[in-house]
Amino acid sequence: MTGKEGFDLVVVANRLPVDFTVGPGGEIEWKRSPGGLVTALEPVMQASDGAWVGWSGAPDLASEPFDADEMRLVPVTLSADEIERYYEGFSNDTLWPLYHDVISPPTYHRTWWDAYRRVNQRFADAAVAQAAPGAVVWVHDYQLQLVPQMIRAQRPDVRIGFFNHIPFPPLELFQQLPWRRQVIDGLLGADLVGFQRAGDAANFIRAVRRLRAHTTRGPIITVPGEDGRDRHVRAAAFPISIDSRRFDELARTPEVQQRSREIRADLGDPDIMMLGVDRLDYTKGIRHRIKAYGELLQDGRLDVEHATLVQVASPSRENVDAYQELREHVEGAVGRINGEYAEIGHAAIHYLHHSYPPEEMAALYLAADVMLVTALRDGMNLVAKEYVAARSDDRGVLVLSEFTGAADELSSGALLVNPHDIDGMKDIIVAAAHMDHREQRKRMRRLRRKVLTDDVARWSESFLGVLTAMPSRVPRRRPE
Ligand code: G6P
Repeated sequence: MTGKEGFDLVVVANRLPVDFTVGPGGEIEWKRSPGGLVTALEPVMQASDGAWVGWSGAPDLASEPFDADEMRLVPVTLSADEIERYYEGFSNDTLWPLYHDVISPPTYHRTWWDAYRRVNQRFADAAVAQAAPGAVVWVHDYQLQLVPQMIRAQRPDVRIGFFNHIPFPPLELFQQLPWRRQVIDGLLGADLVGFQRAGDAANFIRAVRRLRAHTTRGPIITVPGEDGRDRHVRAAAFPISIDSRRFDELARTPEVQQRSREIRADLGDPDIMMLGVDRLDYTKGIRHRIKAYGELLQDGRLDVEHATLVQVASPSRENVDAYQELREHVEGAVGRINGEYAEIGHAAIHYLHHSYPPEEMAALYLAADVMLVTALRDGMNLVAKEYVAARSDDRGVLVLSEFTGAADELSSGALLVNPHDIDGMKDIIVAAAHMDHREQRKRMRRLRRKVLTDDVARWSESFLGVLTAMPSRVPRRRPE
């Protein structure tokens, strides 16, 4: 803590930007985790005296705030029961499927909602305790939608931003939520509510009008206060990105280049290496992708002597039933396709249920002729941007689902697909596999211009720029 009464910038996110491990003597150790959000916010945090409030990822871990990399880290403790109800339950079995087009049916449990409220209050209280007078508090993602209002109730002096990293659903789906009005009110506690796509912001504004009858004008929502004073809340799109330069540089290192050649050699030097990289999540369209790939082998339009698919599926939310079912399905399908079409030395699909460090990811991207991003719904999809940032050789083809936020930005260079249209997707995969180098270069250059310019630093600067430039927090009195 500095000499003052708190921090000027407080980030509130479900997870802390560190991994927690238990050391050899049973002591708790923290290791930096290289997540996208922390690379985005690190420079701003270091420049402006920042604190980060979040959960360690483990149950019942009570730890005092501590300093790491010129940031104050403030752990929020969750019990095993709260992890089950707030994190696995309400966040990832109610909100996650509801906000992703109900691809999997959302579950509504009142006990989960109670835990969500209770845990949101704990995050809000922790943030309030860290914020200096007039501080900026930036709350992140669907796990913490009630936090803005909870902070405002205690601290009208601070500016509050909220960014939703996942889609915001159309009203027709959102209104299924039994606590839809409470969620809207929670978000409206912020001064600025940011979304990935313009369409998400429009969905939110429409939900505000229909469920709360507040007046809206373009991106501005007028929220009547109990004291007769109006507040203005802005809702707009701020598409997130990656640390493109860092990824570009990583992929240019001799070690990564060498590793990428090794990967191709270990795969038997295929003519076409296709790659999928996802958290093992039903929103990612992994089953659709594998189905299309299997059919291409069946039809003889691809064959295992010339082509192979590497699918990295990193473990995720393994206690949630829908994720366990997905794993069964994906692994069953991979087994069937390999059983049917693989030959000695030529797997049809190389399936890897692991997470890898950025160096290995960069090598995989560099090795891949075709990158398959076929999500059924995705807030942004940063894998698509990482692939582009890694390709300083201007080679490779990005096949990108229309249902990702990234498609709004990358349509000029990617081949867009509707992953529900298996025949259409098969044709596009074949077109990607056969694209000549000139066309690849032309498209990749367009993609790289976009991704290298609109990086994550620009994203955080633009969000914080709008938030801090918003009209003075002294509200105007409504006419009697
Ligand atoms: C998405 C969400 C993040 C979340 C991440 C990993 O990207 O928007 O908030 O942290 O998935 O999921 P997990 O449940 O492991 O935090």
